[in-house]
Amino acid sequence: MLAPVLTIDGPSGAGKGTVSRLVAKKLGWHYLDSGSIYRSVAIAVQNASIDLANISDIVKVTQAMVLEFECGDSLIVKLNGKDITNQLGLESTGNIASQVAAIPEVRAVLLQKQQDFRQLPGLVADGRDMGTVVFPDAGYKVFLTASAEKRAERRYKQLIEKEIDANLAEIKSEIETRDRRDMERETAPLAMASGSLYIDSSEMTIDSVIEEVLNLIR
Ligand code: DC
Repeated sequence: MLAPVLTIDGPSGAGKGTVSRLVAKKLGWHYLDSGSIYRSVAIAVQNASIDLANISDIVKVTQAMVLEFECGDSLIVKLNGKDITNQLGLESTGNIASQVAAIPEVRAVLLQKQQDFRQLPGLVADGRDMGTVVFPDAGYKVFLTASAEKRAERRYKQLIEKEIDANLAEIKSEIETRDRRDMERETAPLAMASGSLYIDSSEMTIDSVIEEVLNLIR
């Protein structure tokens, strides 16, 4: 039997990660954070000092990359045996990830790696093209978004809480640049899959978003 899949797509900072992780936990399903795979490519590219214009070397590094996800209390990600968890969440990693994600050959190499996460009893898959390209036959699809202002504010608060210097206007402009790149690329752009439940979390709490998503499955 093919495992059921719930896809949660949307722009960065809409709360997909938190919602997906908690919904997966409630359902007892596996969780795929596809953004972390693109972020790992970004780190591999940086580690190998590859120029972002050098597509063939970026593709080679993607093909050679060995990724391990250790799901304990918190997620640990290892790239070629080395713990990269701390680097994954950096703004700079996200920006490079968005650039390497626009390369069709990179997406092609990563397709099967992502589909391999589909295992019983079920999978919650979080990303940009989960419902459109990676799991088009998913039984449950959500498009989770929020205004750029709200997403920037949330990101700003997270950084300040971690005592990291941050500038709200800069964060908003980076979010808008990333949205544009992710939505306008040729291959698998960020788009709402047909049949998706649309949720705008701008004025919602995480708990109420989770409730709406769980209602879809019940
Ligand atoms: O969700 P995130 O911020 O961790 O993703 C980082 C980048 O990776 C995002 O800007 C675009 C890319 N990405 C993608 O192209 N497709 C996905 N399914 C997930 C992420």
